[in-house]
Parts: sequence; structure tokens; C-alpha cells
Amino acid sequence: MRFHRPKFCFWLFIFITLLSCFTVMFIFISDTRIAYDHPLTKTYMKMEMEKIIEHMTRLYELKDGEIQEIIEHFGPILKTIVKTLNITVPEDIESLMVAYKSAGMVSAPMSHFDLFTFLPHLWSHEDFLKPFILHSRGRNEVSIVFGIPTVRRQKRNYLIQTLISFVKNMNQTEQDDSLIVVMIAEVDLEYTRQLSEEIKNRLSDAVNSGLLEIIAPSPGYYPDLKNLRLTLGDSEDRVRWRSKQNLDFALLMMYCQPKGSFYVQLEDDLIARPQYQSLMKQTALQRIADEQEWFILDFGGLGFIGKMIRSSDLPWLIQFIIMFYNDKPGDWLLEGLVQTKACHLGRSRKSCKNAKDGIWVKHNESFFQHMGTWSSLAGKIQLLKANNFYNKSI
Ligand SMILES: *[C@@H]1O[C@H](CO)[C@@H](O)[C@H](O)[C@H]1NC(C)=O
Ligand SMILES: *[C@@H]1O[C@H](CO)[C@@H](O)[C@H](O)[C@H]1NC(C)=O
Ligand SMILES: *[C@@H]1O[C@H](CO)[C@@H](O)[C@H](O)[C@H]1NC(C)=O
Repeated sequence: MRFHRPKFCFWLFIFITLLSCFTVMFIFISDTRIAYDHPLTKTYMKMEMEKIIEHMTRLYELKDGEIQEIIEHFGPILKTIVKTLNITVPEDIESLMVAYKSAGMVSAPMSHFDLFTFLPHLWSHEDFLKPFILHSRGRNEVSIVFGIPTVRRQKRNYLIQTLISFVKNMNQTEQDDSLIVVMIAEVDLEYTRQLSEEIKNRLSDAVNSGLLEIIAPSPGYYPDLKNLRLTLGDSEDRVRWRSKQNLDFALLMMYCQPKGSFYVQLEDDLIARPQYQSLMKQTALQRIADEQEWFILDFGGLGFIGKMIRSSDLPWLIQFIIMFYNDKPGDWLLEGLVQTKACHLGRSRKSCKNAKDGIWVKHNESFFQHMGTWSSLAGKIQLLKANNFYNKSI
């Protein structure tokens, strides 16, 4: 009997190894979202799993109902991968993954943000935080969610061309791993329906596959925009325009936050370079793998374009925008948040800049280029162009 033991162990070892291989293969075949065609190293995959776990932990802490769905959907697969990759998972999440389900979770999306202090008109109307969903296939658990706010313009509207560029410059793998959310930030139902129909007609494949979603704010979401404080010496029109824009950004981010690992905000008048999705994702995962700190990865340059942030960090930005929506334009608030996070007030301006650059990491190349000349603020002309777009002739 004694002689047989090592042999038995050996075969058991072979059996377990084969079983693991088959399990991993099975996962790769059965779940295309995790099965990237490109040679994703184990490290990358591990980093990505850690992101998902972190995201789930956060949702769990927030008692977000979404986590139940995720676990029901991915529970068994996640459990196997976590085991295979030997990742440590918080005990709470682990027991959830075993049970696949948990009772008693509050399922009230977005109610975990403390917005009511700053937007008191929402106090007894939490429903106003839920946008109208004009089209959704319920896609979630993607790597990158792209948020695109759009408003009615007096001059040209470039939205459709922009969306075509975003979709065309992703291949199938990238499309399957992304979600594009267009928010038509208008309360005129006739207009939002019309534009939504146009998007559905012009981009039917992206809409039908679930890659593209369309939402619009509930009219009750906005406070009285005629009654804002005039700030920074700006005209009333300008204050209203930038304050509403801040509220639009915050709502879009709130909607997108639970749907993927990373969030990237874009605008409605851009063209994208090919492979932007996988390049962004690789850059983020590489930084995480190298344990380099970052808060924003910047693939765009101007304004809010192409700023990538972890979904788990997004609540900070959302709260910050909501707190100061009436005080400054969104891109200044982003500066302010990063400055607050990074800078030592007793040190020089230069050391502040270095500290900021450390967590707001600018990519050497802009992945997006402006198409439009007309800003969404009536009469404002937008002539800024990214000078490091990969194709200089555009
Ligand atoms: C899409 O592009 C990525 C990155 O370049 C590549 O790894 C992947 O194989 C491509 N997928 C398809 C279906 O062509
Ligand atoms: C799993 O990781 C832990 C530390 O993270 C390590 O101590 C342990 O040996 C690993 N197990 C296997 C089977 O690799
Ligand atoms: C950015 O850096 C990468 C390599 O790090 C290089 O291949 C690429 O050409 C650079 N792009 C620009 C616009 O400098």
C-alpha cells in the first residue's frame, strides 16, 4: 500500500492538472468576454480579475442590487477563475460566489450617492435620478464603458458621424468588450425620441448587438436652471450652460458606473483612431500590473475627452461634480479634484504639477480628434484640435 501512495499522488496531480486545463479552456470557449483573441498574458488576466473583484467588493459594500445579478451570471465562472489564478477574494464576496445569490440586498441603483444635500429638489424623488432608457440590451460587465453626452445644437450635429467612427474603429473583440452609452441631454421628449430613432436606423448593428445604449435624463432631475448663482463673472447663459453640462456628466457617469471596469468620457463631435479600445485597455492593465498609481489615464487632451477612470473611483468624481456644479466648468472641477488629491499646499507650484502628473497620466498620443467647429454653447466656436492625433492630416 505504501508503495502505491506516491504513484496515486502522481496520477491525482496529473488528473487535477488536466482538469484545470480543461476548465480554463472551457471558460475561454464558453465566455467570449473573457476569451480575448489576442495573447493576453496570465498577468493581464489576473489583473483584470482583480479589477472585477474590486468592483464587486465595492458594489457589495454599497449594497448595490447589481452585484446580485453579476454573481448570478458570473458566479460559477468567476469562482473557477479565481481558484485557477490563486487570487485572494474578500470572504464576503467568496461566500456570495458560493451561494450565487444573497438575500436582503437593497436594489436601488444610484441611491448610494449622497446627492440630496447638493440637489435638495431630489430629496423625495429618487426616481428622477433614473434616466429614461430609450434603448438598452442590458449589457454590463464589460471592460470599458464609453459615455457620450450630447445636446441639441443650433448649427451642425456631428453625433451620427461620431458614433459611426467609434464603432467602425473597434473590431469584433473590442466591440464585445465595450458599451457605448449616448445620453441625449434634452428634456424635449419629441426630440429625444426622434434622435434616438435616427441613431437606431443609422447604427442598427451596434444598437441590436447591445453595444450602443441611448438614455435621456428625466426632466425632474434638473434643479431650476433659471435660478442659479452667477459665478466666475460669467453671463447667465454661460453659467446655465456649464452648470447643466456638469449635471449631465454626473448623471451619465452614475448610469455607467456599475456596467464595467473602466469609464471613458467622450464628446459628440469626434473621430477615433483604430484599435483605441484595446490600446486603452492594455495601457490601463499594464499600469495596474506594474503597480503604478493613477487616477486618470488621459487619451484625449482637451476637456473631458478620452479621460479614463476606474469605475470604482468614479463616485469621487461624481460627488465632486455635483457639489460644485454651479461653481465651475467640469474640466476645471476635474483639475480641482486631482489637485486636492495630489498636492501639498506648502510646496511649490512645480511640485504640485509633478504630483498631479503622477496620477493624471497623459498618453503620448491623442486617440481622438475634434470634428466640429461649433460648440454646444450657442455661438461659441471650438477651434482647438489635438496636435498629437495619430493621423496628422485630420
Ligand atoms: C481586434 O484587435 C485586437 C487588438 O489589436 C486583436 O488582438 C484581436 O485579435 C482583434 N480581433 C479580431 C476579431 O480581429
Ligand atoms: C497562492 O498565493 C499565496 C499567496 O498569495 C501563496 O502563499 C500560495 O502558495 C499560492 N498557492 C498556489 C497553489 O500557488
Ligand atoms: C507614443 O509612444 C509609442 C511607444 O511608447 C510609440 O510607438 C508612438 O509612436 C508614440 N506616439 C507619438 C504620437 O509620439
